[in-house]
Amino acid sequence: MPILRNFRICNFDTDIGTEELAHLEMVATIVHQLTKNLSMEQIEESGFRNYYVDHTIGIWPQAAGGIPFNACEFQSKGDIITDLMEDMAAEQKARSTYDNILRLVRDEPDVYEPIKFLRAREVVHFQRFGEALRIVQDRLNEKNFYAFNPGFDCCEGNMK
Ligand SMILES: [Fe+2]
Repeated sequence: MPILRNFRICNFDTDIGTEELAHLEMVATIVHQLTKNLSMEQIEESGFRNYYVDHTIGIWPQAAGGIPFNACEFQSKGDIITDLMEDMAAEQKARSTYDNILRLVRDEPDVYEPIKFLRAREVVHFQRFGEALRIVQDRLNEKNFYAFNPGFDCCEGNMK
């Protein structure tokens, strides 16, 4: 978010973005390790059948419910308050997804431990976005009650 520079907050969002891509690589590796030696019987019994038909055992990002990964996974409104709130919500959604996965893989330490690590990072990301939100709010015009976009409109009078 370039607008963060206006609030003297630099690089933290690109740092988190880079880390998230590394997390995607970790999750893809876990999936690859779990599926690379499946027998046809295991594929059928595990509910992996439909995925297998479309992708064999290749890594193809999709939600657990089968919805393909696409740009709709990303949100950007161009309003710093809106975007930071959205970022914080996304981190909490990731954390709760990892919580759900952890309940399912309690007996699989090779999956449990890396997912536990990823969950901890989402908590840190949530806190970092929260810190950025607090800094931005502290630096906003005190008369802005967040009824306009401070990155686009310099004051409420600019609104029609
Ligand atoms: Fe995150």
